Amino acid sequence: MSGITVDDRTLVLGIETSCDETAAALVMGGYDIVSSAVSTQVDLHAEFGGVVPEIASRAHLDLLNPMIARAIVEAGVGEERIDAVACTVGPGLIGALLVGVSAAKALALTWGVPFVGVNHMEAHLYAAFLEDPTLEFPLVVLLVSGGHTMLIEMQDHGRYRLLGQTIDDAAGEAFDKVARFLGLGYPGGPAIDREALQGDPEAIAFPRAMLHDGLDFSFSGLKTSVMNHVRKHPDVSAADVAASFQAAVVDVLVAKARRAAEAVGARGLVLGGGVAANSLLRERFLSVCTEGGIRGFLPSREMCTDNAAMIAAAGWHRLRADGPTALDAGAYPNLRLPLLP
Ligand code: KG4
Ligand code: ZN
Repeated sequence: MSGITVDDRTLVLGIETSCDETAAALVMGGYDIVSSAVSTQVDLHAEFGGVVPEIASRAHLDLLNPMIARAIVEAGVGEERIDAVACTVGPGLIGALLVGVSAAKALALTWGVPFVGVNHMEAHLYAAFLEDPTLEFPLVVLLVSGGHTMLIEMQDHGRYRLLGQTIDDAAGEAFDKVARFLGLGYPGGPAIDREALQGDPEAIAFPRAMLHDGLDFSFSGLKTSVMNHVRKHPDVSAADVAASFQAAVVDVLVAKARRAAEAVGARGLVLGGGVAANSLLRERFLSVCTEGGIRGFLPSREMCTDNAAMIAAAGWHRLRADGPTALDAGAYPNLRLPLLP
């Protein structure tokens, strides 16, 4: 136990700067979003076709104080009401992380309140609770982002079991690489999502890797088979390729999510991460839950992508369980989700 009181009135300022979103939010009692400000740098990186770490760090420096100010003003509370400052300490880009961590520590020192280091992946697991606090354990979370594709069983707060993960590319990475290959631009996920609306998802039978084989995923063969198909058929419609590729990714994601939920007898199944913004995935996820009699919950797109409300929420739970983080703790680019053995 932490020795400090953490209850449903505890107001946590969350800070997120791990990649290309600069965000600050105030969350009360771990579940109640009082304010949330997010500034995305996507336009700054678009011309380079991906996130440029140095540009990200500099933009966080410019944007973080305005985001914190906005979160506090929107909340309509004085700084003295803030009980703790939680910040992503990893995984992420080291320069980007350091901007948030330095600011969070400075504010915690200035205000005389605890600093809490938050694991960004753990925060994604908590995002759904901010919109549906009635979710119950065991909960299965399908976390699909640019860097991760994981099926996690949340047995309780802080008790996570890895059910499956990608053995090569993350789902979002596959979207980004295929979009770049098709010349659809950056970021690739939304570009494929849009292009696929005009295409036929059954036009090309791309492989569904490892569909019947455990709960792990593989997307690099699919990417290669898209490239081979386009090289062999240069006149193929980009919309058909996008729609068929997207259908192949989504088929595997929803089939395994359903199987994982059934295997652990989950009381709920939720989606998280940037790829959870995908329209086909959102639609198919809900129909698979209905078919399987599983309680499915689809967080809003804002809550699936990087934001600071989820950081404040995870920070509240960590503060309650472990107490404050030492101010000499660092930032950890390769930080992993703490898993049960
Ligand atoms: O979670 P996130 O915002 O950042 C991290 O990777 O941590 O996820 C970004 C990923 C990118 O790969 C992006 O292409 C993908 O999410 N994404 C999508 C969509 N919107 C974002 N993928 C498919 N369909 C979308 N609509
Ligand atoms: Zn993220």
